[in-house]
Amino acid sequence: MGGKLLLGASQSHAAASPPLSKVATSGLHGEDSPYFAGWKAYDENPYDTTSNPGGVIQMGLAENQVSFDLLEGYLRDHPEAAGWGGVASFRDNALFQDYHGLKAFRKAMASFMEKIRGGKARFDPDRIVLTAGATAANELLTFILTNPGDALLIPTPYYPGFDRDLRWRTGVNIVPVHCDSANGFQVTVAVLQAAYEEAEAAGMRVRAVLLTNPSNPLGTTVKRSVLEDVLDFVVRHNIHLISDEIYSGSVFAAPDLVSVAELVESRVRRGDDAGVAERVHIVYSLSKDLGLPGFRVGVVYSYNDAVVTTARRMSSFTLVSSQTQKTLAAMLSDADFADAYIRTNRERLRARHDHIVAGLARAGVPCLRGNAGLFVWMDMRWLLGGATVASELRLWDRMLREVKLNISPASSCHCSEPGWFRVCFANMSLDTLDVALARMSRFMDRWSKETAMSTLQQQHLLYHTL
Ligand SMILES: Cc1ncc(COP(=O)(O)O)c(C=O)c1O
Repeated sequence: MGGKLLLGASQSHAAASPPLSKVATSGLHGEDSPYFAGWKAYDENPYDTTSNPGGVIQMGLAENQVSFDLLEGYLRDHPEAAGWGGVASFRDNALFQDYHGLKAFRKAMASFMEKIRGGKARFDPDRIVLTAGATAANELLTFILTNPGDALLIPTPYYPGFDRDLRWRTGVNIVPVHCDSANGFQVTVAVLQAAYEEAEAAGMRVRAVLLTNPSNPLGTTVKRSVLEDVLDFVVRHNIHLISDEIYSGSVFAAPDLVSVAELVESRVRRGDDAGVAERVHIVYSLSKDLGLPGFRVGVVYSYNDAVVTTARRMSSFTLVSSQTQKTLAAMLSDADFADAYIRTNRERLRARHDHIVAGLARAGVPCLRGNAGLFVWMDMRWLLGGATVASELRLWDRMLREVKLNISPASSCHCSEPGWFRVCFANMSLDTLDVALARMSRFMDRWSKETAMSTLQQQHLLYHTL
């Protein structure tokens, strides 16, 4: 691009660009899916209450902006944390930091992870490996647990970014485990086994199951009995379990989160661990619960010593900067602040969730019953002409073009039931959310009129054919 402009006309014919690697040129990053296309549509025409009220409202981004005032309040009251020590600490921050990360920050992260699980699980700071977000944590674990060509089993629907994060650079295959709405998309041993056999039949070696708990995009927590089944499954097949618990602090209604950490601890306590602990690895990040995706703070927490050691070595590629660690160490080790934040953030997420569910219901659109996360899983299956991905994408495109709402279609999450959409509710003001709900209502009114019309047309045609 820029380089080409510098070439003279004769030079530009001299040679084609030298080739790039297979990884660089493969399409396995998945960024050509409607999930990312919708982001582009938003970037080109972003909604703004005053300067662009007709723009696209971004409901495809799982960002938490509802509790920023709490974080800002803390930093105002504790300027020493915000300034990471100022000039006096400049050298200390600027000079080499090894890949263990700051002990004070790992301790603060461990205690925060315990708090959001209501003290029902313990985290050892020495097992915490810091990474630049959950994106890096997930990829790093995939590099450690799999070889190129192996398979990871992932229940659907799943976070669209996994195609990029887990598959693109590692060369692993993602084998979807197809869950459906009949049981609220909870994974079962039968579908896990079917996916396992499908992968083996295709010549792949299955290395791990990856669960997201609470689920993105469903906004639900995984049941205790399901987790027990999955643990038994991974033991039976001698494979690993990655539990992405990035939304663990964003559970705002019953039932409570059951973290795999709790189950591991209770099995170890009961003495029937049977090698469970060493195959369990938890991923966490501050991008969602604290709303800090720009700070790039993630965690690999493993009960397996070899995985901890290797992850720590590999984390050299994705470290967290010293000043970020210092600021957050101060904030999260303030127990009163952390407790109050967790409680208030949950209350606010719950209020937002209830607001959008009620608004969508008024517009005539139901949602899967959710208790966690920054989104709802909206059911529009009955609006499709037929249960196909093509008709789902037509509906998605119409909503984007006609009422300028960007939401994420089920197919981008590899869901086997077309017609579901993930709709985010925490990345905008309440006023903007109300504008979005009014647009959705307008869309549904239009749809009702059209279908009434087409029914009339059908009757008309039928009348004339007879
Ligand atoms: C389930 C899940 N895992 C990982 C990520 C990546 O998070 P991070 O910003 O910490 O890299 C996301 C972000 O949306 C997510 O939803």
